[in-house]
Amino acid sequence: MNKKQCLLLVGSPRGLKSNSYKIGSYLSNKMLDNGFMVKEYLLRDFNSSNNKSLVSLMELIRESEIIVLTSPLYVDSLPSIVIEAMEVIAEKCCTKKTGNKQGFLAVINSGFPEPVQNDTALKICLNFTRKVDFKWLGGLKIGGGPAIGKQVLEDKQGLLKNMVIGLDMAAGRLAKGESLPEDVLSLLNKPLAPKWLYLTILNFGWWFQARKYNVHKKLYAMPYQDTE
Ligand SMILES: Cc1cc2nc3c(=O)[nH]c(=O)nc-3n(C[C@H](O)[C@H](O)[C@H](O)COP(=O)(O)O)c2cc1C
Repeated sequence: MNKKQCLLLVGSPRGLKSNSYKIGSYLSNKMLDNGFMVKEYLLRDFNSSNNKSLVSLMELIRESEIIVLTSPLYVDSLPSIVIEAMEVIAEKCCTKKTGNKQGFLAVINSGFPEPVQNDTALKICLNFTRKVDFKWLGGLKIGGGPAIGKQVLEDKQGLLKNMVIGLDMAAGRLAKGESLPEDVLSLLNKPLAPKWLYLTILNFGWWFQARKYNVHKKLYAMPYQDTE
């Protein structure tokens, strides 16, 4: 029997180094465990004016049962590479070759720790699924994505533990083509780190970067302040 296909669309221009890819590839591996065939596609490689690129993305979409978009939040919205892909898919695509509609899950991670920051971007994704007639399986909002850093999700430790447990539960639901229920959403839609800890780490990072250029004592400088 042919395996069903899950397509991971990675929306970060940072590609394989991105938090979006780390979250997405963890979820992909879980989909493999659940008997799916998985294809990964970096949207930064998509070129809508190249016919080959266009045809291959549309083909992937048509052949997939489940589509997972993982993307960073950019200025309360989505990176231009994601928006461009959405516009092209909406114009050119895309009913599945056979059977039901494609299921679509969006996973957005933001720099700010509050998951609510991702609400507008998720609404854009929901609007997209309505336009192309995909089945909306849910939206995950990961607050403080940079806290993932170099950690390995498979270790299921520290700040990432709850998110990883949530992703395991999500994969089980996705494999059945079911929308994510409230308990899974509420486990995932939490900041990765408490706000005070996250801000302390970011402030340290900022200070270290400034020290590299010997400007760490000038962090509060206001060179353009009106002196009159
Ligand atoms: C151009 C740009 C715009 C961003 N805008 C926001 C924003 O509006 N809100 C926010 O919380 N984080 C914002 N961020 C931070 C990213 O969402 C965050 O660093 C994310 O973890 C990057 O994920 P990635 O590694 O998958 O690319 C922005 C980052 C960049 C580069």
